[in-house]
Amino acid sequence: MARTRFEIVEKEQYSEDVYRLKVTAPLVPTLAKAGQFIIVRVDEPGERIPLTLMDWKAEEGTVEMVFQAVGTTTDKLSLLGIGDCLQDVVGPLGKPTEAREFGRVACVGGGVGITALYPIARALVEAGNDVRVLLGSRDRAHLILLDRMEALGAPVEVATDDGSMGIKGFVTTLVKDAAQQWKPDRVVAVGPVPMMAAVSSLTRGYGIPTVVSLNAIMLDGTGMCGTCRCEVGGETKFSCVDGPEFDGHQVDFDLLTARLGVYRDEEEKSRKRFAPMADSYHHPCH
Ligand code: NAD
Ligand code: FES
Repeated sequence: MARTRFEIVEKEQYSEDVYRLKVTAPLVPTLAKAGQFIIVRVDEPGERIPLTLMDWKAEEGTVEMVFQAVGTTTDKLSLLGIGDCLQDVVGPLGKPTEAREFGRVACVGGGVGITALYPIARALVEAGNDVRVLLGSRDRAHLILLDRMEALGAPVEVATDDGSMGIKGFVTTLVKDAAQQWKPDRVVAVGPVPMMAAVSSLTRGYGIPTVVSLNAIMLDGTGMCGTCRCEVGGETKFSCVDGPEFDGHQVDFDLLTARLGVYRDEEEKSRKRFAPMADSYHHPCH
């Protein structure tokens, strides 16, 4: 039987270390739903990394993903070009987002997490909700997917750390304003852990149900290895099969932060070992 080709058909660089890839993966988009993710292996000896499905097209047999080059695997991924292939793309994995009619929903995205928020916001618009999109970025140049978010037809508000676009400050300022004035029935927040923790802490005070999408370290993605375990409401959960979305008011964000740092030293050593080989790295299709 012929091996499936996970071929890169589009590549776009958003900023110095953030990239978008469109890859052929014929079966994934026939089953994909908002909030789910894929596990990717770049080459045969490579590790597996989870990446949120940013978009997918069943008729093309393609999936889109956005990633930040922060370690050896994502460095390798960033070095591939159109016509190169990934070793494997497995998915869709994880539980889909709960996309039913809630009423007013604030969709809150921070930095690269905006990529995971996009299909969730789209599904919530399609489910008939009154959606507001609140985006936080360090500056205008790092704000991603604004055009796609605006195309959803929901109002989009922006906060930048340096004030180069929208209001100056963290996205939590927009969340606080919305909580006080617009009074959403639900908040969905995706972004860096301190941002999801801050949003959850804020909305707890207003009694607004809040969902966050956890970016835990994963290995198999199917509930077998326990690598992605987190604590929600005092119970151990596996992000890959019980999530990745959880009640933000119940998540132990300190534990999540600690677990995300467990392999930091090894990751840095691996990245340094790979750096001299980066210029000659590629992974053509076989
Ligand atoms: P960043 O540090 O540039 O922050 C982006 C925005 O988040 C800021 O502009 C601000 O508005 C908000 N923010 C950050 N810290 C905050 C705080 N303490 N309080 C309130 N708001 C805060 O983000 P980045 O470097 O683009 O993001 C990278 C992070 O996003 C990585 O840690 C990555 O793992 C995570 N990520 C998460 C997901 C997910 O599914 N949860 C997906 C992709 C990336
Ligand atoms: Fe192994 Fe979730 S990644 S149990």
